[in-house]
Amino acid sequence: MAKLQEKVAVVTGGTTGIGFATAKRFVAEGAYVFITGRRQKELDEAVKAIGGNVAGVRGDVSKLPDLDRLYETVKAKGKIDVLVANAGVGEFAPLATLTEEHFDKLFDLNVKGTLFTVQKALPLMNDGGSIILIGSVASVKGTASFGTYGATKAAVRNLVRTWTVELKDRRIRSNGRCTTTGSHCEDPSHHTDGTHGRTGRSRQGSGIPRLRRFQLCDGHRAVRRWRPRSSLISGRRGADPPASRFARGPVRRSDW
Ligand SMILES: NC(=O)c1ccc[n+]([C@@H]2O[C@H](COP(=O)([O-])OP(=O)(O)OC[C@H]3O[C@@H](n4cnc5c(N)ncnc54)[C@H](OP(=O)(O)O)[C@@H]3O)[C@@H](O)[C@H]2O)c1
Repeated sequence: MAKLQEKVAVVTGGTTGIGFATAKRFVAEGAYVFITGRRQKELDEAVKAIGGNVAGVRGDVSKLPDLDRLYETVKAKGKIDVLVANAGVGEFAPLATLTEEHFDKLFDLNVKGTLFTVQKALPLMNDGGSIILIGSVASVKGTASFGTYGATKAAVRNLVRTWTVELKDRRIRSNGRCTTTGSHCEDPSHHTDGTHGRTGRSRQGSGIPRLRRFQLCDGHRAVRRWRPRSSLISGRRGADPPASRFARGPVRRSDW
């Protein structure tokens, strides 16, 4: 039986990149998936590409009325089993010249958007459900001009740990996912705002662009992380602070 049979999942930022790959994989594993994004055309294309058992809800996760609208739509389908708060953006800006606009953009989306995406989902989440946040090794690594982004992901890292403890009575697991590669495709259909500048490289001899490789990889890992028998279940070992290996935040080799 497919791992996510009859489960309902929400993946924010599900039109491109990691979110799209995750949504596609979840559907392949039997879930009904809601994806979000701000651009209707990309949303329609993603829904079409995934094929079935998927619905697109347009909205900006940093705007609370849009989140309310998202969950009103989800409610019609039922409860949420898996929530992937994936929508996020990276942007380089040196400390000496970065602007308030840059700061607000990154914190509004990566921190405020992530927090309220989860808060507003809670009434709809099944006990024993799973929350997956997309973190980054930038949360612990110092990279020139990447401080604001790193700080947003450090905040996400703490939210994962905090919610693991806070939601354990409902057996809702909270896990953070750090991607395994920092290669970014220049294809505008893969990346929003042109913020990821580097070209994906092929792994030697494989013929598979690295971007595709990690997208598939992320989808697989997100599915694995959902499994109820997972050792990542919060409070499984009765620990407080959390026992989850991922709540402690594994650092994988990645650029950001
Ligand atoms: N790519 C990497 O190597 C990498 C590494 C570490 C961590 N991450 C994290 O992984 C997550 C996904 O990254 P990605 O590279 O896959 O991103 P991406 O390809 O640029 O896709 C971003 C997705 O989020 C949506 N989005 C952007 N702003 C939004 C908003 N305000 N409200 C709702 N949806 C919004 C986009 O659609 P619209 O533009 O239509 O809204 C799109 O669906 C992010 O949290 C990122 O920080 C990525």
